[in-house]
Amino acid sequence: MTAHTPPPFKEHQSYLLDGKLLPWSGSIAKVYSPILDADAEKNTKNVGVLLGSTPDMDEASAIAALDAARSAYDFGRGDWPTADAHVRIRAMEKFIDKMMPKREEVVNLLMWEICKKRGDAEKEFDRTVIYLKETVAEYKNLHREGSHITSASGTLAQIRRGPIGVVLCLGPFNYPLNETFCVLLPALLMGNTCVFKPAKYGVLLITPLLDAFAESFPAGVVNIIFGRGRTLATPIMKTGKIDVLALIGNSKSSNALISQHPKPNRVRQVLGLEAKNPAIIFDDADLDLAVKECVKGAWSFNGQRCTALKVLYVHKNIRKVFLEKFAEATDALSWGTPFEDADITPLPEQGKVQYMESYVEDAVSMGAEIINERGGDVEGNMFFPAILFPTNREAAIFHEEQFGPVCPVLEFEDFEEVLTDIAESPYGQQVSVFTQNASTAGRCIDHMVNQVCRVNINASCQRGPDALPFTGRKDSAVSTLSVKAALRSFSIRTLVACSEDQQGLMEEVIAGGHSSFSSMNYLL
Ligand code: G3H
Repeated sequence: MTAHTPPPFKEHQSYLLDGKLLPWSGSIAKVYSPILDADAEKNTKNVGVLLGSTPDMDEASAIAALDAARSAYDFGRGDWPTADAHVRIRAMEKFIDKMMPKREEVVNLLMWEICKKRGDAEKEFDRTVIYLKETVAEYKNLHREGSHITSASGTLAQIRRGPIGVVLCLGPFNYPLNETFCVLLPALLMGNTCVFKPAKYGVLLITPLLDAFAESFPAGVVNIIFGRGRTLATPIMKTGKIDVLALIGNSKSSNALISQHPKPNRVRQVLGLEAKNPAIIFDDADLDLAVKECVKGAWSFNGQRCTALKVLYVHKNIRKVFLEKFAEATDALSWGTPFEDADITPLPEQGKVQYMESYVEDAVSMGAEIINERGGDVEGNMFFPAILFPTNREAAIFHEEQFGPVCPVLEFEDFEEVLTDIAESPYGQQVSVFTQNASTAGRCIDHMVNQVCRVNINASCQRGPDALPFTGRKDSAVSTLSVKAALRSFSIRTLVACSEDQQGLMEEVIAGGHSSFSSMNYLL
């Protein structure tokens, strides 16, 4: 790998509590890059470049953050949940303005910490900024929709969406900026208050933005703590004082956290979880297109995307030729550092290379072969994508979300076999269907739309564009995200209602500006 100068060692020592950036003097957690240290001895021991450290906070700090968020919410009577819409919009716009100049620093850390290649790291930052701007525009629409009275069977009502309460926000390592901010910021804009703990990997890149949070939002509205989920999130949930759990991760973690809450029924869940999106390649597919999309779908960011293609079903008649082309296109990928925009980069999670190897060994012991020449090659923390065929349905890789660069392939003759697998799968996010035949496509659409939440025709699975609903069935998600849907997920409809004979009083409330909820102010 080409040498690249690491960013200056970043010993981050502060956290955001109740509007103040406070110094942390307790234990710390060191942050290593997945890129190996050039020092020969460290390199042989697979030690990554030391990038810096962050606070490794304790339970008391977690509870202090929760208390700050609770007191800012103040049972819905706080300044933030009752603020006029334009106050919250101003705070959000201020935050976006302060975030933008940090682009290069954040992008650089995205590359060093999680090895996201430069182009994708830049895309993650830019996409997030656009998402936040569109969120403000959508919030204005939502507010306008609530600025009128409807009449139903003699009852006058004004309906708005109001905040839910205190949100615990936990993000993932693969999109540590985008996926986290796409839930955290909409939650804040709707008037909730939050405790946010960044992911274990991809944590330093949040630190350049701490000032922006502190300077844009009132005290206690957003509190940012660092450390282990078990130490911080578990005690917070146990208090029973969390109203919304926003977690992008897996159902094991979300179930464990929800079960800690003394009243799980009270916790609104906004969860993006595991997936096992299949691609189905029929014998009339445009094979070059299918190969191109499967390479992108299975291997972008080393397969570490919830939307990645994680199992391929290929029709018997074209299986041989498809696999030859897919193997060739996969082997043509480059591997190296994120700075040189390599396709395949080091894996950030500790032990992930061995984890991938164990999937391969297990599948091979059940009859599979790695069908691409470079498949399974290892250098440092890099694992070259491995295509497995034929995959036994008993193999772990067939059942589990691998979240990495190994892809199982199965052959099918009758579409019913594929349907049965998908129906019985615990996952239900998306599917990709490759065919040029309208009747096959139509049949597939009708079978699939009730199994997953997005059917992609002749294209790989993906979340974007962000205006589209992003969700999943079964173990793959709870709630829907999109620019519009996130605002709804973090709010609840609340209405003021009266019979028509109370119209005079309501007119007086509105005309006299006695209530910010019951107002007809129209945001432009
Ligand atoms: O990890 C899951 C992400 O939401 C996937 O987003 O399809 O844009 O890569 P993407």
